[in-house]
Amino acid sequence: MNAPMPVTATGLLNHREDFPILARPIRGQRLSYLDNGATTQKPRSVIEAEARFYEQSNANIHRGVHWLSQHATELYDQARSTVRAFLNAARDEEIVFTRGTTESINLVAYSWGMDNLKAGDEILLTGLEHHSNIVPWQLVAQRTGAVIRVVPVLDNGELDQEAFKQLLNEKTRLLAVGHVSNALGTINPIAEMTRQAHAVGAKVLVDGAQSVPHGVVDVQALDADFYTFSAHKLYGPTGMGALYVRYEILDSMSPWMGGGDMITTVSFEQSNYAPVPQRFEAGTPNIAGAITMAAAIDYLMAIGMQRIADHEAVLLEYATDALLAMPGIRIIGTAAHKAGIVSFLVDGIHPHDLGTILDMDGVAVRAGHHCAMPLMTRFGIPGTARASFALYNDYADIDALLGSLRKAQKLFGVG
Ligand code: ALA
Repeated sequence: MNAPMPVTATGLLNHREDFPILARPIRGQRLSYLDNGATTQKPRSVIEAEARFYEQSNANIHRGVHWLSQHATELYDQARSTVRAFLNAARDEEIVFTRGTTESINLVAYSWGMDNLKAGDEILLTGLEHHSNIVPWQLVAQRTGAVIRVVPVLDNGELDQEAFKQLLNEKTRLLAVGHVSNALGTINPIAEMTRQAHAVGAKVLVDGAQSVPHGVVDVQALDADFYTFSAHKLYGPTGMGALYVRYEILDSMSPWMGGGDMITTVSFEQSNYAPVPQRFEAGTPNIAGAITMAAAIDYLMAIGMQRIADHEAVLLEYATDALLAMPGIRIIGTAAHKAGIVSFLVDGIHPHDLGTILDMDGVAVRAGHHCAMPLMTRFGIPGTARASFALYNDYADIDALLGSLRKAQKLFGVG
């Protein structure tokens, strides 16, 4: 996802049958699952990978002299290599397993942030951020005296790049920015923003929760210092994710959670910490989660992330054109470069009512503020209805959405 998503691709992927849940009728209707920004469904190979781990490989890692423990450790280590290759990180040691994006950002805030921020330093966020890339920085700012500044959002949902340049200064210690807006789908020009932030000596954290599932991500090309994603939005398990940190930075960071497996020696006087990434993986980790996440990545790599990006771009264009052609519908977020997310309002129907009516037709969308309340405030709205696409969506899903929207408008006597 270093270049804008292509919008010229033709032809769609056809993987609906890989996902058992999509065969389940909802309220007697074919399921049109368009809430992929919230979480994605899981392919059979991922579901089977988790069962296979518990059936054949389950043991604790890094602790046992016995065969199963060594086997589980190998699988866990392989999972780290899989994530490294997927993100094109330089070294396995740069990948920390976490519970997901939220935990990753908190890890960086409490470890790197508490050690590196002082009163008057500036943390630069953007008006597009999810709460998980706002609240941890507020908590750390309160403790350190650092100041939060915010890059404003233009009417089309893009970041104001001129304002960004003005906001960067020698006090900026960190730029924390989402790669793709979960609420609007805007793809931010991360490589360019990173270059400018580095020029003033700031570090850059990228929330990749909504980018990693939708295109090719190369952390070296982006030159990010921190990059994170969640497995459950990537066709993998909940409660699992990964954090990439450039090795020199990670190696200099203090632990944020203490416990087993993150130490080399412990006495009551002093403990010595393990090398990275173990230093940041205290306690028994989510072993099955890491291995199942790697199975999800294997599944995606076999299809190809660029093909997935192309597929979703076709769906986005189809849905956007159709929504624009309907009366009484306003799309929020019309950036030039968008991932497969379309957020909209229907005149005279509250997004929550709309979501409930769509559900009656088996169409699952998210309605509300999308954990981006400052962004909703920026647009003067309480929330939107959001359709977000995945590799298994097809024209039928979008046609179901459009048909159900027309029914809702009729029901409310609008449009
Ligand atoms: N952050 C997730 C979303 O956008 C939950 O829906």
